[in-house]
Amino acid sequence: MEILEAKTFLDDVINGLSLTQKQLSPKYFYDEFGAEIFERICTTPEYYPTRTETMILKNNVAEIAQRIGPNAALIEYGSGALEKVKIILDALENPNALVPLDISKEQLNMAAKKIKTEFPHLNVLPLTGDFTKLVKLPKELLNAEKKVAFFPGSTIGNFEKEGAIDFLKSVRATVGENGLMLIGVDLQKDRDTILKAYNDEAGVTAEFNKNILMRINRELDGNFNLNDFKHIATYNEAHHRVEMHLRSLTVQTVCISGVNFHFDLHETIHTENCYKYTHESFSRLVEAAGFLAADTWTDSEGLFTVVLLTSKFRQ
Ligand code: AVJ
Repeated sequence: MEILEAKTFLDDVINGLSLTQKQLSPKYFYDEFGAEIFERICTTPEYYPTRTETMILKNNVAEIAQRIGPNAALIEYGSGALEKVKIILDALENPNALVPLDISKEQLNMAAKKIKTEFPHLNVLPLTGDFTKLVKLPKELLNAEKKVAFFPGSTIGNFEKEGAIDFLKSVRATVGENGLMLIGVDLQKDRDTILKAYNDEAGVTAEFNKNILMRINRELDGNFNLNDFKHIATYNEAHHRVEMHLRSLTVQTVCISGVNFHFDLHETIHTENCYKYTHESFSRLVEAAGFLAADTWTDSEGLFTVVLLTSKFRQ
């Protein structure tokens, strides 16, 4: 990791663990190991979002490609393994470029190399970093006829409402008034289905959650004992969100880069929120950011939805 990035990570960890409700940003899940564990979450039988969204994309790809049109440049936010975008690329007429953005450098470079062999004529321009910070596009893209932001997986659910609106506004600025955004959103549903997806039997989500402590140990000279923390995922009905926490199983003090943090028995670190939307609440959200939900594709059980956004101010 770059020195500057390491310093932000340390600052964020110290600030987060100094709050009354201790917290860490979910973006720090995704080091090399976390990115790998997340890919395994996506294949657990309980985690319905990945397979459902993939099916929605496959079933509707002709229509999606037709709405996007020819010569499009795709910008994928949090591109991960780059599996879903291939479905779209296969159906697009003469796609112009793909800009995968991801915080996990190792995964990004590997996935970009791989997709280049599968689409040899595609201009692949990977960018490493935190996509919530304003994205400066490669100059090759400035003249692209149509820019399309692709944001699958319901990662939008990680943002608080205000953060989501700011992020969507920044995407709108990036793609321009004739640009589009194709976004995947997890829908509100019975609590049991949601909770199972974040408490898989095999314990992969628990491993993912605890990896953030391992990462602090590795990169920031921490001494978390992973056996003294337990993975917790609950559904907060009032806020329509899954909350992930790490609960301390003992009274303990943890040292990170020479700074001590005290944990009471059962005290938690809040590591993630995953907001779930309805079609209506999601439409309101995007409209607050100057987008319109122009097309919506949903599976027959109403688990997940893929929405194509256009600018309200389209010329
Ligand atoms: C990557 C944010 C979409 O919210 O379902 C999965 C992350 N956390 N299991 C989600 C996650 C625990 C995932 N997102």
